Amino acid sequence: MADTTTIVGGCGHVGLPLGIALANAGAKVTLFDTQPERVAEVSAGKMPFLEWGAEPELTAALGSGRLHATTDPTSIASAEVVIVTIGTPVDEFLDPKVRMFDRAIQGLQPHFRAGQLVVLRSTVFPGMTDRLIEWLDRIGPAVDVAFCPERIAQGYALKELSELPQIVSGSSPTALHRAKALFRLLTNDLVELPPIEAELAKLFANTYRYINFAISNQLYLIARKFDADFARIHAAVTYKYPRLAGFPKAGFAGGPCLLKDTMQLAGFNHNSFPIGQAAMMVNEGLPSALVEHVKATRDLSRDCAAILGMAFKGNCDDHRDSLAYKLRKILTLECREVVCTDPYIADPSFVSLDAALAKADVVFLGACHAEYKDLRPQQPVIDVFDFLPKTPAAAGLRMAG
Ligand SMILES: NC(=O)c1ccc[n+]([C@@H]2O[C@H](COP(=O)([O-])OP(=O)(O)OC[C@H]3O[C@@H](n4cnc5c(N)ncnc54)[C@H](O)[C@@H]3O)[C@@H](O)[C@H]2O)c1
Repeated sequence: MADTTTIVGGCGHVGLPLGIALANAGAKVTLFDTQPERVAEVSAGKMPFLEWGAEPELTAALGSGRLHATTDPTSIASAEVVIVTIGTPVDEFLDPKVRMFDRAIQGLQPHFRAGQLVVLRSTVFPGMTDRLIEWLDRIGPAVDVAFCPERIAQGYALKELSELPQIVSGSSPTALHRAKALFRLLTNDLVELPPIEAELAKLFANTYRYINFAISNQLYLIARKFDADFARIHAAVTYKYPRLAGFPKAGFAGGPCLLKDTMQLAGFNHNSFPIGQAAMMVNEGLPSALVEHVKATRDLSRDCAAILGMAFKGNCDDHRDSLAYKLRKILTLECREVVCTDPYIADPSFVSLDAALAKADVVFLGACHAEYKDLRPQQPVIDVFDFLPKTPAAAGLRMAG
């Protein structure tokens, strides 16, 4: 079992919960991150972003002396295990930024030392693990390499890290053996795959979810076109019908992972991924489709529109690639005024929920925060998620019927 582990990107959404969980399971963990503000917050026992239930766990890990955070890259050389959790975005052409990840790894290489286990935990472009193995074989040092994808739902990492099986892969039987020993600290439920299959497994999982959301969103738009209530149809067809248990409700499918990973898979398959690319058009087109639909019955140019919830999903403070911002952009062109509110995001341009409701002529739900669950705005409501209680006053424009 590894007793010293350095997590590169250790104060990020993946690195930090993993570091806390490993430390509280007995490993000695250093969180190496290039953002000094995040390192300072974590060192002071404060989570830099919302992870439910994480702060007491962070405090316990820091208090045990088994967890600390640093901006010092030399912490890599002293570790037996190095886990890489840095971001792997796509560029403005929706192409994976493979070179950016390459450069980041090249920056780490001088700190690697022979005998270490290097675990890729970021979601990578397929083939990346084998490329890293070949590259390190050529220039050294002689390390074991593993790819073990992260599959947590953001916000619920600490719960899921101990509940979900871990997919593990390695460059050699030794690498695999060491990766298994590391993740056995979290669970005994390990699934072994060759590196390329583990990389594809991660992308397939996110892509599958993204396409499923697109199916619901497309069907929602079809129902809408014929003045039918998608939510009512959804409730009817999923009622005591297990074959449709996985049929999601309609809603914004934004955030930093699902679209990005679908585009990574498209890029890997030489941009031939019709169903993934169609899913992107449906999901990314949803904010505009909602606005167009409202415009058919209402002159928005005189309205103040309020967007409730700007995070990419409910009960979350992450606005990365949130479709609520795309909605805001469209509404800004169409409406007299747009006001935004979110209980989780500190943004000086946002207003309180009360102020948003006081000003609004029309209300759009942007994210299903629990705080809105019992909200009954008096204005027309566009609630693609079918999350808010139905009110007679809102029925005129309610998008889910
Ligand atoms: N967010 C999720 O829920 C989630 C779930 C599964 C997989 N993933 C994948 O995990 C990876 C990381 O995503 P994230 O959401 O944690 O990103 P993030 O931006 O929250 O975290 C990345 C961290 O890495 C740090 N960093 C960047 N370059 C660095 C370097 N060279 N050295 C040290 N630190 C560096 C950043 O400062 C940041 O704190 C991505 O590949 C993502 O697709 C994310």
